[in-house]
Amino acid sequence: MKLRSNVVEIRMATEADAQLLAELGSSTFEETFSKDNRREDMELYTTKTFSAEKQLKEIIDPNRRIAIAWIGNNAAGFVHLLKGDSDLSVKGANPIEILRLYVSVRWHGQGVGAALMDRSIQIARDEGFQTLWLGVWERNFKAQSFYRKYGFVTVGQHVFRLGTDDQIDLIMSRAI
Ligand SMILES: CC(C)(COP(=O)(O)OP(=O)(O)OC[C@H]1O[C@@H](n2cnc3c(N)ncnc32)[C@H](O)[C@@H]1OP(=O)(O)O)[C@@H](O)C(=O)NCCC(=O)NCCS
Repeated sequence: MKLRSNVVEIRMATEADAQLLAELGSSTFEETFSKDNRREDMELYTTKTFSAEKQLKEIIDPNRRIAIAWIGNNAAGFVHLLKGDSDLSVKGANPIEILRLYVSVRWHGQGVGAALMDRSIQIARDEGFQTLWLGVWERNFKAQSFYRKYGFVTVGQHVFRLGTDDQIDLIMSRAI
């Protein structure tokens, strides 16, 4: 059954959330990609990307915005926005990247992804950005259709290295 959207609360991550984000990032990444990738590549990537130390650095980085979706006391998902260089295929003005948007499997289909996307758009607009863009694995059809539903279109592609495996990410973007 779908929860009412007001049950999902979005809060900006603080330094106290570093360990939680490390665990949530690693577990959602595993849930999403482990069945389609080699274990060694998954481990190389998650160890490097989702340590608590790295999460702490990212939380306090002024070029990043990280928000966590809460359902009661459960951290159900998170979004990570990055102000940085955009892929050359992104032609929209003032772009900002959705670097990661992940919802735990147990909370899928209950409005968490929508709440995280809405907050991403709000943060980006409030900070004067005009374009949202992201990279999504060419084989992650579920996420691609979620993004299409929110008006993203494919504008290009780039290589994403998972451990030792070079994969193709589609680049998608939309005006905000
Ligand atoms: C993609 C993802 C973020 C969607 O989150 P979610 O919380 O399940 O989505 P919601 O319940 O908020 O759904 C929001 C809307 O998108 C739609 N939607 C959700 N998943 C969809 C899908 N696979 N295809 C099409 N539409 C989808 C829903 O129907 C809903 O629309 P509605 O309000 O008209 O009913 C989630 O499945 C996820 O985290 N997947 C694993 C991680 C991942 O792949 N992240 C992206 C990496 S680039």
